[in-house]
Amino acid sequence: MDSFEFTKIAGAVLSALLLIFGTRVLIEARMPGPPATPGFTLPAAQADAGGGAAKPAEGAAPAADAASGPAAVLADLSKASADNGKALFSKCKACHNIEKGKPKAVGPNLWGVVNRPKASFEGFEYSPAMKEKGGNWTFEDLAAFISNPKGFIPGTKMVFNGLPGATDAADVIAYLAGQSDTPAELPK
Ligand code: HEC
Repeated sequence: MDSFEFTKIAGAVLSALLLIFGTRVLIEARMPGPPATPGFTLPAAQADAGGGAAKPAEGAAPAADAASGPAAVLADLSKASADNGKALFSKCKACHNIEKGKPKAVGPNLWGVVNRPKASFEGFEYSPAMKEKGGNWTFEDLAAFISNPKGFIPGTKMVFNGLPGATDAADVIAYLAGQSDTPAELPK
């Protein structure tokens, strides 16, 4: 490359740069000051997340001694009281029948629900979310659902906040396990 060719190329590059920066300066000069709303709102979002996280933490504090969450429910199953579960089931009775052969109510009949395929009670209109979840109602899945229905199946139409206390959830599951033609054995 001789020096003349080099000069031509350098000139071309320079004018290209000039064009780009010149245009930008012109565009920026026409913009009426900084945008009213910045393109991102990180600090506010962080404040929100912090506030949101603080609430469950407060709520979880008392439950922390009693332990909560599906793992705690499963651990409690071996010493669960089906009798106490029967009493607690009064909360579920607002929406669920559990006697064999009874029809659906607000929710499906729960006779034999342990190990039954999800969303399988004949004649009940389940939510799409419940139908898509798939699998059977294992102890694990019941523990997760009954502790936190919307946490386990976002979009479920079961309008119930669940039983956050692990012992309560375990007792209800122990009761459910017995309400069946083939009672499921509780995990040891
Ligand atoms: C306010 C009414 C309401 C209450 C209270 C309620 N449920 Fe439900 N439940 C529903 C509805 C509605 C569905 C169907 C959910 C769907 O299709 O998403 C359901 C579904 C279920 C299912 C899935 C059954 C299946 O056939 O797949 C289980 C298990 C269940 N509920 C257990 C309970 C237990 C245990 C309680 C009490 C601790 C309870 N529910 C309290 C309304 C209720």
